[in-house]
Amino acid sequence: MIKQAIIPLAGLGTRLLPLTSVIPKELLPINGKPGLEYILDECLQSGITEVIFIISKKKRAIKQYFYNDSFYKKIIKKKKNMRLIEEYKKIKKYKKVIKFVYQDSPRGTGDAVLKCKNLIKSNFFLMLMPDDLIIKNNCSKSMIALHKKYKASIIASKRVKKNNVSRWGILKVKKINNRDFIINDVIEKPTVKKAPSRHAVIGRYILPKKIFKILEKQKPGQNGEIHITDSIRTLILSENKFIGHIFAGKYLDCGTMKGYINSTLEISKYNL
Ligand code: G1P
Repeated sequence: MIKQAIIPLAGLGTRLLPLTSVIPKELLPINGKPGLEYILDECLQSGITEVIFIISKKKRAIKQYFYNDSFYKKIIKKKKNMRLIEEYKKIKKYKKVIKFVYQDSPRGTGDAVLKCKNLIKSNFFLMLMPDDLIIKNNCSKSMIALHKKYKASIIASKRVKKNNVSRWGILKVKKINNRDFIINDVIEKPTVKKAPSRHAVIGRYILPKKIFKILEKQKPGQNGEIHITDSIRTLILSENKFIGHIFAGKYLDCGTMKGYINSTLEISKYNL
């Protein structure tokens, strides 16, 4: 059973500067609550019981957001405000499942994942990228069900425009049905010419624990960063089964200012 999830949160958020010089992008409100809460709710509703946050010293505000008990208690004592009491209960519920590990220099997603090596108990775990919100259908829940069915690693995917392939990890695929396919290869941010398909990797992964062994030896790739995609590729090319899944929910890219603004508009439409 998949019970643990990890969320890399140590990124600098340069695409959302200057806001992110003082507020971690994952705490920026989307329709009134931090983007990170949508991701946490997706985890909790899919049966995850432990969520590991990979943060850095610069992003301590994330820990503070969930560990501000005494602040809440003082105010609640003074004002018996129902909304505050409900918010406090919600934060306490999140706090119970969260653990923190630190990645102090931003050396890439692969390096962030490696920081969780000693905390992962089962053979597989879930990873969610906080920039990628998926609403209206719980993507992690569907992926956990697929993992049970195929006994394989799973990667969420979406078809993107040909001109946009170099923004994403791109999959080489062999169709199983309308939503699922076998992944035969993956390339991080290829040129249009080198892209093996238009199936992009979206930030939800079910990964095997053995990826840690590969990550320990992973050499830096594009832009000198250690990419999780490169270690996934090593696993795929050495016969580990990876299934791609075209998820049913609506994708919102919160990593850019345009996408962030749009996500508020979209989420407010559905009152989530
Ligand atoms: C990361 C991954 C990329 C994936 C993307 C999904 O890229 O490296 O393979 O397609 O997330 O959001 P980043 O957004 O960190 O540049």
